[in-house]
Amino acid sequence: MSSVSIVGVGNMAAALADRALAGGNAVEIIGRDPVKAKELAAALGGATAGTAGAAPAGDIVILAVPYAGAATVVSEYGDALRGKIVIDVTNPVTPDAKGLVTPEGSSGAQEIAKAAPADAHVVKAFNTLFSHVLAAGPAEGRSLDVFIAGDDAQAKARVSAFVESMGLRPMDAGELPMARALENVGLLELGLMAHSVKHTNFSLGVSILS
Ligand SMILES: NC(=O)c1ccc[n+]([C@@H]2O[C@H](COP(=O)([O-])OP(=O)(O)OC[C@H]3O[C@@H](n4cnc5c(N)ncnc54)[C@H](OP(=O)(O)O)[C@@H]3O)[C@@H](O)[C@H]2O)c1
Repeated sequence: MSSVSIVGVGNMAAALADRALAGGNAVEIIGRDPVKAKELAAALGGATAGTAGAAPAGDIVILAVPYAGAATVVSEYGDALRGKIVIDVTNPVTPDAKGLVTPEGSSGAQEIAKAAPADAHVVKAFNTLFSHVLAAGPAEGRSLDVFIAGDDAQAKARVSAFVESMGLRPMDAGELPMARALENVGLLELGLMAHSVKHTNFSLGVSILS
C-alpha cells in the first residue's frame, strides 16, 4: 500500500484518486481551493483533504496540475518534498497540440525536477493515459500500460508497485530524460485523436510478441 497526495482536483486527480483508493492506497487530495479539495475527497469516499502549502501526507506526491503551473507548485512546497517521490503526469503541449513547450533537449519532468529538492525523486508516469480511460481501468482482459521514466531505481520500483495496486501495468522506459519521449507519446495521442481515431477512448500499450 502506498500513501499518496494528489495536488489538483481536476479530471486526472479524480481518476488517479479513484483507482488509487480502489487499490487500497491512502489518498490525500490537495487543491488550491480548499472547498474543491474537500468536495472531491468527499465524493470519492475514503480520501482525505489536505491543505495547500502544508507538508503533503503522502510519500508519493502526484502533480495533477497543468504543466504551466507544475514547477511553481513544486517550488512552493520546497523542502516539504524532501525525500518524497514526485510523479509528474503533465503533458507540456503547445496550445495547437502540435509541439512541446519544453526546451529542446529537456522534458517537462526534468524542468520540474530542477524546482524540486535534490533528494526528491521525480518520476514521469500516467501522462499517456486519458483521464476517462484511467478511470475506467482495464477492460475486456486488456491491461493498461503506464509508461514511467525516472533516475532512481528504488523510486521507480515504488511507483511500479503503486501502478500495479491500481490494476495497471508499469512499463519502465528508462531514466528521466526519457520523459521527453513519453511527452511525445502524449503528443502522438493527440495527433491520433485528431487524424485517425477521432475520439479519445483508446490507449497506447506494448504488445509483447514472444
Ligand atoms: N485529462 C487527461 O486526459 C490527461 C491525461 C494525461 C495527462 N494529463 C495532464 O494532467 C494534468 C491535469 O490535467 P486535468 O485534465 O486533470 O486538468 P483539469 O481537469 O483542468 O484540472 C487541473 C487542476 O489543476 C489545478 N491547478 C491549475 N493551476 C494550478 C496551480 N497553479 N496551482 C495549483 N493547482 C492548479 C486546478 O485547480 P482549480 O480547480 O482550482 O482551477 C485543477 O484542479 C495536466 O498537466 C495534463 O496535461 C491530463
